[in-house]
Amino acid sequence: MPFNTALTRRLGIRVPVVQGGMQWVGYAELASAVSNAGGLGIITALTQPTPEDLRKEIRKCRTLTKNPFGINLTLLPALVPPDYGAYAQVIIDEGIKIVETAGNNPGPVISQLKKANTIILHKCTTIRHAKSAVKLGVDFLSIDGFECAGHVGENDITNFILLSRARQDLGVPFIASGGFADGQGLAAALALGAEGINMGTRFMSTVEAPIHQRVKEAIVNAQETDTALVLRRWKNTTRLFANKVTQDALKVEKESTTGEFKEIGPFVSGQRGRQVFLNGDVNFGVWTAGQVIGLIHDIPTCNELLTRIEKEALEAMNRTRALYSESPASKL
Ligand SMILES: Cc1cc2nc3c(=O)[nH]c(=O)nc-3n(C[C@H](O)[C@H](O)[C@H](O)COP(=O)(O)O)c2cc1C
Repeated sequence: MPFNTALTRRLGIRVPVVQGGMQWVGYAELASAVSNAGGLGIITALTQPTPEDLRKEIRKCRTLTKNPFGINLTLLPALVPPDYGAYAQVIIDEGIKIVETAGNNPGPVISQLKKANTIILHKCTTIRHAKSAVKLGVDFLSIDGFECAGHVGENDITNFILLSRARQDLGVPFIASGGFADGQGLAAALALGAEGINMGTRFMSTVEAPIHQRVKEAIVNAQETDTALVLRRWKNTTRLFANKVTQDALKVEKESTTGEFKEIGPFVSGQRGRQVFLNGDVNFGVWTAGQVIGLIHDIPTCNELLTRIEKEALEAMNRTRALYSESPASKL
């Protein structure tokens, strides 16, 4: 019996698992593999240098899968911000019906996409931000706990609290993001009230992830203690794979007397991080990973991964169901 949640029904997918947007990882190869495996694959818009390149990537993805896939549009503060409106317009023109939004001030982009009847999954790390997104008319919240890779927010609330707060307070369906890698996690998220899960780091370590094999192996060999939080001083706390460069960055963060961002900027350069994925030197720059790296022990195909997650989730749900018996407990 397949899953039947608000997420699977609304998105038209078989397994309630979304592959979250990932800068320099979320290309058509990965998105189509996840969608072909029954989940929701997502292309990361800003990995494409221009809106026209995004159009080409969407068209490429259509040649690789007939199943639904989505686009991630991340709005981050920048001196010269990308033309978000133009990226959103390409998404609309290409007939994409599902968008994952994230970041600051998403109102204008969400309203542009909603006018075209796009289903919006908005990612946030606090209930306060989730409530603002509800007012903007988003269809699903993607609740990113403190365990997650990337921008963890400044409140450090893990998913055990955050998901139940979402269930108690939001009144809009939500999915659980951050710390998920297996079917037991999916079953737990469903038990807490989520309609599915979002995974990032787990999908990096799949056959189809378009990144260097040595990065995948570094994830397999890492433990849950091998991440580091940087940029807290600038209220832009980011969870990264702990390596030589994050150590250097943290030293600057601690010791800088000026507190000027330009001192740490070269250490946390996204361009150097991108090179890690291309050249496989895991110490070449900073790169994003979540605490869930401690749960990742192999490099399966997306199909093997989602088939396994489905099976494990069912077993976990059956197991917990069997812990409650309708018949009175026998006396000792
Ligand atoms: C390499 C990498 C890059 C990411 N880039 C983005 C991004 O550009 N935009 C975004 O909204 N989230 C980004 N994320 C976060 C994921 O979409 C997802 O929310 C997160 O990975 C969930 O936590 P998990 O890694 O424990 O599964 C990134 C995550 C990783 C691992």
